[in-house]
Amino acid sequence: MFLVVLTGAGISAESGVSTFRDPNGVWAHYDWRKVATPEGFAADPALVHEFYNDRRKNLTEVEPNPAHHALAELEEKLTARGDRFTLITQNIDDLHARAGSRNILQMHGSLTRMRCTICGTKAECTGDVTVETLCPQCQAPYSLRPDVVWFGEIPLHMEEIDDALARATHFVAVGTSGTVYPAAGLAAEARTYGAKTLLINLEPSENESLFDQHIYGPAAIEVPRWATDLLGADAP
Ligand code: OAD
Repeated sequence: MFLVVLTGAGISAESGVSTFRDPNGVWAHYDWRKVATPEGFAADPALVHEFYNDRRKNLTEVEPNPAHHALAELEEKLTARGDRFTLITQNIDDLHARAGSRNILQMHGSLTRMRCTICGTKAECTGDVTVETLCPQCQAPYSLRPDVVWFGEIPLHMEEIDDALARATHFVAVGTSGTVYPAAGLAAEARTYGAKTLLINLEPSENESLFDQHIYGPAAIEVPRWATDLLGADAP
């Protein structure tokens, strides 16, 4: 088995991290054009830093939930018995890593990393950043930006993602509305290569027709249940 799992904001919802498009989600309170585009950052970098500082602070108040833990355990058990597992996430939070997942492709970048727009240095960052914060490498002010992928930018790790999809036997999407590309198209790609596809989400997603099977319910309940069934069914 080569299992590829794609996660979105819904997997972190029960940890207390807001999703984007639910009625009380992030985009109900912020204009994404102002805080999640290169143009928005150029127009008002202080506002964008504030937005990401708040989200980074939220990370110190939340913990991984049973869905994150189930995926970490699944990776450990599948790889121990010679199966393959790749985790792709659109999430910029660090909850998969804190739950113990190892092979994580954060296609939209990381909230806890900054990038210098002058020297290209990437640095871990858990505190607040302002426009005056100096790059730890070249010491330039006004140069740091969150190392996240904004609308209009190319997601990270696309080559590794395409590779994994080409070899996947099973593709599972968890907690994502299926509205943002290229992530929303990964299920179609996996299916073209012959993988069986499953959606685990609170409700039907925009791209639900790309999935052979659907499990609708909260990730913290449904993911551990599905993972236990999968390990039981495929046990040698
Ligand atoms: P969305 O907010 O678009 O969708 C979250 C999905 O999770 C919805 O379909 C919800 O129904 C579902 N959901 C909510 N709570 C859940 C729960 N407890 N269990 C299971 N599912 C639940 O988030 P994403 O699809 O991740 O990109 O959004 C994709 C991208 O759009 C993000 O990475 C971000 C955003 O704009 C950028 O900022 C570039």
